[in-house]
Amino acid sequence: MSTLDRKRWDARWRERAATGPGAPEPFLVRHAGALPRGPLLDVAAGDGRNALWLAGRGLPVAAVDVSPTAIARLERAAAAQGLAVRTRAADLDAPDALEDLGTFASLVVIRFRPGPAQWRRLLAALRPGGRVLLCSFGPEQHRRHGFPLAFCLERAELEAGLGRELRLLFWESLAEDGAFLEGSLWEKRGDQAAAVI
Ligand SMILES: C[S@@+](CC[C@H](N)C(=O)[O-])C[C@H]1O[C@@H](n2cnc3c(N)ncnc32)[C@H](O)[C@@H]1O
Repeated sequence: MSTLDRKRWDARWRERAATGPGAPEPFLVRHAGALPRGPLLDVAAGDGRNALWLAGRGLPVAAVDVSPTAIARLERAAAAQGLAVRTRAADLDAPDALEDLGTFASLVVIRFRPGPAQWRRLLAALRPGGRVLLCSFGPEQHRRHGFPLAFCLERAELEAGLGRELRLLFWESLAEDGAFLEGSLWEKRGDQAAAVI
């Protein structure tokens, strides 16, 4: 990510009223029971609405985001709620973005579309049998609201790009409060089946 884009994301978080993290993503709330109980990484976590909710369910959660402002807000909210969340302000484009964070039983990716190099880095940190919960804008958001197609999740493209490493468990097209989202759950191919809650 360019320095300009990094500054833009941070400025967006600074401009947002410091009212604390919002409610978790409904798709995550509906399907969190399908995530293994081991360590979980919230990818591009923002100010932590999803990470905090997951930590509140007793999961060991780490959160990464490029915006130091968002991460600082997440840390304040976690402290206020007495929750433990490991945090890292890092650009997922950087090869060392996830260094020393260990491996994960789940990745949660909400309202963010990783690029190919970011997926490689993320999947290297996912254990065999681990799961990826993904939910972000889809092509309908582009058609109705002009959201850039480059940031939309497209099922065929993801299956082609991730299919060797991940098995698609289910895919849902959603309309939540006027936003058109695509939600899916994936499992990393490998020898160990995940222990699900
Ligand atoms: C629309 S927000 C979603 C935040 C959060 N997942 C949620 O659902 O509330 C997208 C987030 O992606 C982060 N982001 C964008 N590019 C990134 C990158 N290359 N590495 C890490 N975080 C990034 C932004 O800082 C922002 O917090």
